[in-house]
Amino acid sequence: MAKYDVIVIGAGPGGYVCAIRCAQLGLKTACVEGRETLGGTCLNIGCIPSKALLHASHQLHEARHNFAKMGLKGESPLVDWAQMQAYKEDVISQNTKGIAFLFKKNKIDWLKGWASIPQAGKVNVDDEVHEAKNIIIASGSEPSILPGITIDEKVVVTSEGALSLPKVPKKMVVIGAGVIGLELGSVYARLGSKVSVIEFLDHITPGMDAEVSRQFRRLLQKQGLSFTLGAAVQKVEATKTSAKVTYKLLKDNSAASVDADVVLVATGRKPYTDGLGLEALGVEMSAHGQIKTNGNWATNVKGIYAIGDCIDGPMLAHKAEDEGMAAAEEVAGKHGHVNYGVIPGVIYTHPEVASVGETEESLKAAGCACKIGKFAFMGNGRAKANFAADGFVKILADQNTDRILGAHIIGPMAGDLIHEICVAMEFGASAQDLALTCHAHPTYSEAVREAALACGDGAIHA
Ligand code: NAI
Repeated sequence: MAKYDVIVIGAGPGGYVCAIRCAQLGLKTACVEGRETLGGTCLNIGCIPSKALLHASHQLHEARHNFAKMGLKGESPLVDWAQMQAYKEDVISQNTKGIAFLFKKNKIDWLKGWASIPQAGKVNVDDEVHEAKNIIIASGSEPSILPGITIDEKVVVTSEGALSLPKVPKKMVVIGAGVIGLELGSVYARLGSKVSVIEFLDHITPGMDAEVSRQFRRLLQKQGLSFTLGAAVQKVEATKTSAKVTYKLLKDNSAASVDADVVLVATGRKPYTDGLGLEALGVEMSAHGQIKTNGNWATNVKGIYAIGDCIDGPMLAHKAEDEGMAAAEEVAGKHGHVNYGVIPGVIYTHPEVASVGETEESLKAAGCACKIGKFAFMGNGRAKANFAADGFVKILADQNTDRILGAHIIGPMAGDLIHEICVAMEFGASAQDLALTCHAHPTYSEAVREAALACGDGAIHA
């Protein structure tokens, strides 16, 4: 039985990053993970495999819609689903093996199995007991399923099943127009499925800047996705090969139903803490099942910390990673820091959608006067050359100080472009600081600068 300075529970992006930082800081570290491979939901059944399918299906879209326009003629590629799945599995394997390599390099012990905490300072992994001065819980989240729905991961699936369907369905119904529903819905729409999205709210992507959300819906509709908004799904009845989704339209309480070969349930996720024994330990939990932590990621039980999806805040891999590094620093006697005001959110559809900080709506609600600088990719030469001129950059800056308060991008590489604004916000920059920074031509990044210029005397190419 080894004695550790830290045992991290869970090897998702929060847990494995935390373990690596602990080891780098000189702590004897182990990480418990029950899956066959490291990387958690994100690498095995989430972010990474979905990006492989998004990439492959986007290439198909380009081939079918834009190649001929550029003078690239010939037969359009056909979908070899088995090969696309093999490509996705290979991408997963390269990434999960990469984490195993990093564990070895940093001398982190992988305790393979499922953990429980009998008392502070002890972690049981299946039948073995391990001792640790500190325990950091990074146990992640799981899909939150509506009552009246039974998941079989074949016909009625979560994101996990949707990544490994036996074939491309003819008709798919997606319940929930959030990040998962729209990313995976667009994969299947591009591959030829008829995709209908049913959403409870009267708009898609809750919490997103309203203008971006409207434009996003229009663009997705152009790609063939259809939306039923203001509809509460009541039940899903499935056979072995099809399902019927019944919903209620909120405007008049009328009921309706729709049939599909596959139903993707993407109605959010909830913290996963099953089997850890937290109740017996007296770890305080929120009403939503999150582990309560203080500003230093410590729970109310001494020596037990928690990070990532199982605590409060957005369920994002990069938020978990940041918390993982910060908690490691706390445990090592340093001071960890996460700026929750500057956490970007990205939807990896085409175009991508990215946001950081305040929205126009949140500023209005807070009574904060702001300037809005907007620039459409239509005025960006690179975007036009690449058939990527849909969308815009929107920067919100304080009316008096010009300090950047938030930014929202719908357009090409939005998920990468947003980071320039994140760095600017970390440094408390003004829109003018961005506007005065020379941006290489021709790049998509020029659209960010133009939006910053639009907060002042005006964009040049608008
Ligand atoms: P979500 O919270 O983003 O969206 C769920 C949607 O389902 C909401 O719009 C909600 O109004 C709707 N809904 C709930 N009940 C309904 C009902 N009865 N009928 C119809 N619609 C209903 O959740 P999602 O997409 O499942 O994602 C879960 C988590 O995973 C999120 O926190 C997300 O941020 C994270 N994630 C992030 C990704 C990224 O950063 N690219 C990718 C995938 C997931």
